[in-house]
Amino acid sequence: MCGIVAYIGKKEAYPIVLKGLKRLEYRGYDSAGIALIQNDAITLLKKQGKVSNLEDFASKLDTSGFCGIGHTRWATHGAPNDINAHPHLSMDEEIALIHNGIIENYDILKKELLSKGYIFKSETDTEVLVHLTDHISKTENVWFGEALRLALSHVVGAYAIVAISKKYPNRMVAARKSSPLVVGVGADGDFYLASDATPIVEYTKKVVYLDDEEIAVIDLNEGLKLYNIADQPKTPFFQQLEMELEALEKGGYEHFMLKEIHEQPRSIHDCFRGRLNAEEGWVSLGGIREYEQKMMQANRLIMIACGTSWHAGLVGEYLIEDLARINVEVEYASEFRYRNPIVNENDVVIAISQSGETADTLAALELAKSRGATILGICNVVGSSISRITDAGSYTHAGPEIGVASTKAFTAQVTVLTLMALSLAQKKGTISDTNFRMLLAELEAIPEKVKIVLEANDKIEAIAKEYKDARNALYLGRGSSFPVALEGALKLKEISYIHAEGYPAAEMKHGPIALIDEEMPVFVIATQGASYEKVVSNIQEVKARKGKIIAIITEGDTTVKEMADHYIEIPETNEYLVPLLATIPLQLLSYHIAVMRGCNVDQPRNLAKSVTVE
Ligand code: G6P
Repeated sequence: MCGIVAYIGKKEAYPIVLKGLKRLEYRGYDSAGIALIQNDAITLLKKQGKVSNLEDFASKLDTSGFCGIGHTRWATHGAPNDINAHPHLSMDEEIALIHNGIIENYDILKKELLSKGYIFKSETDTEVLVHLTDHISKTENVWFGEALRLALSHVVGAYAIVAISKKYPNRMVAARKSSPLVVGVGADGDFYLASDATPIVEYTKKVVYLDDEEIAVIDLNEGLKLYNIADQPKTPFFQQLEMELEALEKGGYEHFMLKEIHEQPRSIHDCFRGRLNAEEGWVSLGGIREYEQKMMQANRLIMIACGTSWHAGLVGEYLIEDLARINVEVEYASEFRYRNPIVNENDVVIAISQSGETADTLAALELAKSRGATILGICNVVGSSISRITDAGSYTHAGPEIGVASTKAFTAQVTVLTLMALSLAQKKGTISDTNFRMLLAELEAIPEKVKIVLEANDKIEAIAKEYKDARNALYLGRGSSFPVALEGALKLKEISYIHAEGYPAAEMKHGPIALIDEEMPVFVIATQGASYEKVVSNIQEVKARKGKIIAIITEGDTTVKEMADHYIEIPETNEYLVPLLATIPLQLLSYHIAVMRGCNVDQPRNLAKSVTVE
């Protein structure tokens, strides 16, 4: 996690870096800091907590300077306080450095440096980097960029680093391994660096994504040069950003999460736009077309993901197994990578990741690749690490998701997986043409139906009011609504801090039923479909124990409507597509409950959006 941002050029660096940090705050908000080169010295500004704390602290200070680096932290080594905040300085205050990632062998390096007389101020792993760079620079008599390159050859771990030196006010050096870093090239010969493109897009759309073990040397006179870790020059690959600035603003909504929930009619549409045509009866995921044969013949499709993306994978499992009759397994990336999985060239491994940077997912993919599997990606962030290491993939096109709790990225992932299931089913001949066309038409109608669900906002807010003080909550669903229940529970716990569990409705009898009393809200996805009657029975079991039922039902349903304490209707759709609609009211419920409880909806405590540490 952690966000890094830097600027060097003719403009004042501080406002650019500060604004960039605000954009990257979703990556961590334990502390923030900025280093500026001022009059041949480095000025350091650091504060525990959010970027706004840093802003207040710096408001009366001199923040001038044309070269600056900034960092917003999600703590790994060392408490989230001012001292542990980045940037970190060399002892003589000549070099300042910011880092996203983890230095795994920092302990050994630290001991060596301590024995050479280095004094550490912080408890971070990062501080070893700056002292090691300083040490090499002095002992080998090389400039700080070369010293950093040499230092990195001693480092085990993941990093995105930007370093500056007061002796070279016109230079900035950056390096990456496993943690993302983008360089923006401005029109005025100035440069912007950041963990992702969001802090850059308002200044320039011309960017270079650094590759693993690549070092960028920026010199205001000589421009941008890239090297590998062995010091061989590399040719920069310039790309144009397609992101628009408006996508990064709240656009009148109180929170990013609420904006992103409301964006879903558009994001789902953007996700399938150009990829299906119900009238002509085709679906095509261009990015993976060449791999579909392989997927159809694969021993297994293994979906690997974390958090919300893992839930999307579970929905995909139901769809692909049922429609295309291909064996699918869904794995937590962190478990997969450490359990010596049986995976080989007959498997196709599909990583699902909003950010495309999740460390466990990335590592699990690398493992699968090393064992010969074909690796594919379903990512939202264009140019992200996962999208770059995979053999092929499909972007979700949901646009930037800023709220830490994932909403529109989830429905976009489910949309891609639905398209994938339909495409494979058609090619395999496991779906009739009539069904295929009907499902395409139903999918095309989903954005309009999501709009209808969103209109229930006031009703959902009223329900939220009734349950905002609950201490526990249970979410139940069957079939592809089971992952929706998991996702509903995750949304509630991550932003409102109410303990919530998602369960397959039938499993309730094997444990959770013991928890049910008149205090317990039970959210049930009870839409029309194959398991409807069974879910109705489960609802009765909850009612018999005085639990409160909040049911998501299909418009026009009367049975559950009468049984439930509260109900939220969603428009009728094919059962395969219910997750795309049933998720929406659960997102809104969590949102309103969190707001009523005074929680920070967009930046829930202890969480970060992009988990780049394992
Ligand atoms: C974090 C985020 C979640 C996300 C998960 C996986 O926990 O807070 O919202 O679902 O990481 O992230 P990814 O970017 O791989 O989808």
